[in-house]
Amino acid sequence: MQTIANDDHPATEGCIPVVPVKGESAARARAAAKALGSDMLEIGTSPSPYLVVGETGAWLEMAGSQVHIAFDSATMMHRRRGGQNELLGRAVGVKASRQPTVWDATGGLGRDAYVLADLGCRVTLCERVPVLAWLLQDAVSAAMVSGHDQVRAAAQRMTIRHCDSRQLQVPASDVIYLDPMFPERKKSAAIKKEAAILQRLAHTEDDAQALWEWAWRQPVSRIVVKRPLRAPILGSQKPSHTLRGKSVRFDVFVRPHDNTLVHQTGA
Ligand SMILES: C[S@@+](CC[C@H](N)C(=O)[O-])C[C@H]1O[C@@H](n2cnc3c(N)ncnc32)[C@H](O)[C@@H]1O
Repeated sequence: MQTIANDDHPATEGCIPVVPVKGESAARARAAAKALGSDMLEIGTSPSPYLVVGETGAWLEMAGSQVHIAFDSATMMHRRRGGQNELLGRAVGVKASRQPTVWDATGGLGRDAYVLADLGCRVTLCERVPVLAWLLQDAVSAAMVSGHDQVRAAAQRMTIRHCDSRQLQVPASDVIYLDPMFPERKKSAAIKKEAAILQRLAHTEDDAQALWEWAWRQPVSRIVVKRPLRAPILGSQKPSHTLRGKSVRFDVFVRPHDNTLVHQTGA
């Protein structure tokens, strides 16, 4: 069973209120509020985000919009079937015979991490916002008892940590994966609403550059950075190669064990 590790370096972001689902037992909501050091509210009325917790589900809500983390949702299944995971898998270096260990230093909603776990990688997700780390853990626990075999198998490969990645020394991991916050440009209204909630929660400090510098100091053989297609390169080094999708690209920094950058051309 995976657990949230509360590291010595607490996250900087504050706590958000917890609201129980009307008509359901409030026991899980009370436990969540206690774990997060949050207040319990009867109803969420504020225009700021709050966490709604029911007997079996939990989600973030703000001004009528919701953010769920569900690894066996139709969207995640569609993404899996549509082969949209291929680019991320290639960036990280997944092969039929090799599934690298990945340190996802910007856990977020865990979607990229789940894709990598589904491809067979062991993934540690590090998230500094307490409520996101709590939701990630809740989603992994739910996925462990999913009716889909492959969802349960992927969940077994995911470990959630609540901490600021920059405070940690990554153990012998093969790959560090970074997907720092970036202003959302996609046009879908649903994505814009979701992004608005995440921006409120997670964009308290733009530490993308500091994260890259931290990653560069770690003893890993590869760093992968997800960026919008036209965003500037993160960090002070030229990527070894870049994989481009329709709206995002993956800058890949490959290094031998002595941490000297190896420049390559092509993927
Ligand atoms: C764009 S989101 C990542 C989305 C994620 N790749 C996914 O697929 O859902 C970036 C996340 O990184 C987190 N973050 C930023 N800096 C961090 C740090 N130093 N340590 C841990 N988490 C961090 C933010 O709180 C935010 O949740």
